[in-house]
Amino acid sequence: VRDLDRAARRVLLTNWRGHATVPAARLYPHQWSWDSAFIAIGLRHLSPVRAQRELESLLGAQWRDGRVPQIVFDPHVPDDAYFPGPSFWRSARAPGAPGVPTSGIVQPPAHALAAWAVHQADPAASRGRGFLARVYPRLVAWHRYLTTRRNLTGNGLMSVVHPWESGLDNSPAWDVPLARITPVPGTEFTRRDLNHAAAGERPTDTDYGRYVRLARDYRDAGYADSLGVHAFAVEDPLCNALLAAGEHALASMAAELGLDGERHRSAADRLTENLTTMLYDHAGGVFFPRDAHSGRMLRSYSIGGLMPLIVPGLPVASELVGTALGDRFRLRDACPLPSYDLSADDHDPGRYWRGPGWVNTSWLFWHGLRLHGEQALADDLRDRLIDRVRDAGFREYFDPLTGTGHGTDGFGWTAALVLDLLR
Ligand code: DGY
Repeated sequence: VRDLDRAARRVLLTNWRGHATVPAARLYPHQWSWDSAFIAIGLRHLSPVRAQRELESLLGAQWRDGRVPQIVFDPHVPDDAYFPGPSFWRSARAPGAPGVPTSGIVQPPAHALAAWAVHQADPAASRGRGFLARVYPRLVAWHRYLTTRRNLTGNGLMSVVHPWESGLDNSPAWDVPLARITPVPGTEFTRRDLNHAAAGERPTDTDYGRYVRLARDYRDAGYADSLGVHAFAVEDPLCNALLAAGEHALASMAAELGLDGERHRSAADRLTENLTTMLYDHAGGVFFPRDAHSGRMLRSYSIGGLMPLIVPGLPVASELVGTALGDRFRLRDACPLPSYDLSADDHDPGRYWRGPGWVNTSWLFWHGLRLHGEQALADDLRDRLIDRVRDAGFREYFDPLTGTGHGTDGFGWTAALVLDLLR
């Protein structure tokens, strides 16, 4: 355990850039939004002040409309080190974008949860630096952006407008709405990810062509949000669950700051109610995303469908745990939890979000298990996650049954969340 702890710290030190942590030196050489949230959760055990700075540097790149960008680019890294880089996104021309170059899309809102966890790691240091007083208003503005500008259908759930925003980039859950998008020809851009990871472990060229099309259209519309602009728009359970759980965290922060947290508690209740009535499928025992254009449920068993377990007071928690224990996710022996249905014909144990297990979603499920009183299942999952990473290294994702590591090595959130699990 001591060796694993030390090795995890080494990854975080190697990936630290003086103000933020890169997910992986070569494949992801900038600051990523939800990566930073998970990294801060682990970093708080190493240095609470550095964990605060991780989140503050991300929130420092917030746009005037409240959006927290998916990527904050490091100006010292060449434009062609990552695609799509700053010259693609052209954020400097967008209204209300910050002084630093960023992408124009977002990622799952794990930040309020992370900020509250960071505060709790050392409340005195946090108070001394005025951490919560600075981040709380920014987090409130972030949630406001998602619950208003991204409430595209008007029914009280946020939509993601790009597969990269969902965090589960090439999940089979997106296949149906993505099939409508005409890919940009491969001759019009150069992928950089394949310089650092095997093609069979990454999204296909056709999917990349679609990702580029959607990002370009959003950029060319000046990053305006409406169903007319977004050819891809999905109400997804992961993001909406993080928002609901995040509102509970904001309520705790408000109390700590001597403010009234009631509006956050009612926002959390509303989101929980909307999530459960609109996205929960009783027969499947799982949450499905919904296509905001067609109104159809995207009936695919992806890990996102289990993520609402992180919501305090979720009325269908025991049903979700039952589904996790079943053949599709095999909570008792698959580890990390598969990103996609193990029993499906198109489950691919090595390809990104089409099968492999990721430590962050398993960490969220572990957190949810504890929240809902499933301590024994939580402890068992934690022990197996630790063993997995000890055997295979700080990989980006893992074959959930054999444990073979895939994607990049030295991956930030794998190291950070293992540090947290070791506590
Ligand atoms: C990537 O580059 O694959 C990232 O997941 C986008 O956020």
